[in-house]
Order: sequence, then structure tokens, then C-alpha cells
Amino acid sequence: MSTGTRDAKRVTTHTLQEMKSQGVPISMLTAYDFSLARLVDASGVDVMLVGDSASNVMAGHETTLPITLDEMIYHASSVVRAVQRSLVVVDLPFGTYQGNTKGALNSAIRIMKESGAHAVKLEGGREVIGSIERILSAGIPVMGHLGLTPQSIYKFGTYVVRAKEEAEAQRLREDAKLLEQAGCFAIVLEKIPAQLATEVARSVHIPVIGIGAGGGVDGQVLVLHDMLGINKEFNPRFLRRYANLHQVITDAVGAYVADVRSRSFPSADEQY
Ligand code: KIV
Repeated sequence: MSTGTRDAKRVTTHTLQEMKSQGVPISMLTAYDFSLARLVDASGVDVMLVGDSASNVMAGHETTLPITLDEMIYHASSVVRAVQRSLVVVDLPFGTYQGNTKGALNSAIRIMKESGAHAVKLEGGREVIGSIERILSAGIPVMGHLGLTPQSIYKFGTYVVRAKEEAEAQRLREDAKLLEQAGCFAIVLEKIPAQLATEVARSVHIPVIGIGAGGGVDGQVLVLHDMLGINKEFNPRFLRRYANLHQVITDAVGAYVADVRSRSFPSADEQY
């Protein structure tokens, strides 16, 4: 087994702060399972997000809402077992932190204790600030998430770009400041105009990681399965595909099926 990153220095929240100060862009990707997390870690990604997008890409749900805390802990534990260098951040799933600060703290503690992850992420600004402060009071690092927050999809009604109107943009600016003041170590900005994201990244001292938020922020995040091209149906403008695994996997599996049917697999060398 390759142990390429065994001796590499671990990424911490302080590393990310230093990267922002030095103008070094931060790379973040999602991961949900041991095997892919090991590859992602060894490839040098700074932050691995066990996103609640697992609800879509791993479980096939239409939204992120159905995934449970137990399911997130299962995915997070698998990722943590694989990772030697990256900072592992885990999404608090829908319904486990809103409107109840004690519940939020309990959810975050379960994630940290049962998975061994390094930080949690949750969606929202002023409306969840009480939960953020309570979690931080237990020494658990929190990453914020503003802009398109998929757990609110039924409020938004659509996955279009957020904060194009000035009122929503102003609210987002203020929320970013609130998250920084509360003590969040970083903020994700999802699917907002690039100019607004750049402005927010310059206005706070903590790292701002964008997805569909342009190049003027401190780092980028993508969903692993999307950037690897496993899912060919999802084609937002912000997505750059670095591989076409849809084709690679269907070709490989198709070839295997053909070989089994023609009895060319296994060969004489592939048996005992
Ligand atoms: O769940 C997720 O994958 C996320 C990213 C899109 C930032 O929150």
C-alpha cells in the first residue's frame, strides 16, 4: 500500500489561515468513502469535505435533506480512516442544528467523537448564529456556508444563482461578517456572482472557499463525483470535468461483461 502522505504535515485550520495570509489558494473536494478519500488525500487536496451531497451522489436522493446524522457519521468515519494529511470537515445534516443550540452542539459532538473528523460545516447566517456559537464553545471548529444553501432548496424553489439582487447580496455580506465574528474558521460561498464573492473574501480575514463563486476567493471546492465525470447529467457552468469516469467505467464494465459471456475471462493465467 502506498503511504505517500504518511509523513506529510497535517493541514489544520491554522494552515488554512496562513494560506489565506500568504495568498496560497486552498483546494477542497468532497469525499464519502475510504477508497476514494485515500486517493484524494494522496493527491494533495488541502480540505476534504464529507458533504451532505452524499445524499445525492451516494444514496440517490433528489435533495440533501433526507441524509441522517448516523449516515453522515458512517461516511465521515470511512473518510477519516483514509486520510493522513487533509483537514476533514463534515456537514451537519438538515434538521440537526437549526433552531436548537443544544441539539446542534450534541450533533457536532457526535460527529467529532464517533468519526474522528476535524471540523463541522453548517449552512446559514444570522438564523443559525446561536448554534454556531454553541458548537464553537465546545472547541469544535465550524465552517460556514452561504449563498446557495441546498438544505433550503424548498424555500428557494430553484438551484439558480443566489444574491443577484442587492438586498440578498447585502444580507450575505453581513452574514459573512457575523460568521467571522462568531469565530468560524472559513466560509463556503456557493453559486453567487463572482464580484460579490471577491468582495466578501476581501472583507473577512478568514478563508473563503467558493463553488460557482469565481476565482477571486481564497480557494475552490467541487463535488468529487462531478469533477471526475461520474455523473454526466449534472452540467452547471461552474463545473470543470477533470476526467470522464462515466465513459471509463461503462467501457470497463461493458468489456468485463463481454469477456464473461465469451468465456475469455478468466484466462489460464488468471486461475489456480
Ligand atoms: O455537500 C456538499 O458537497 C457541499 C459542497 C457543495 C460545498 O456543501
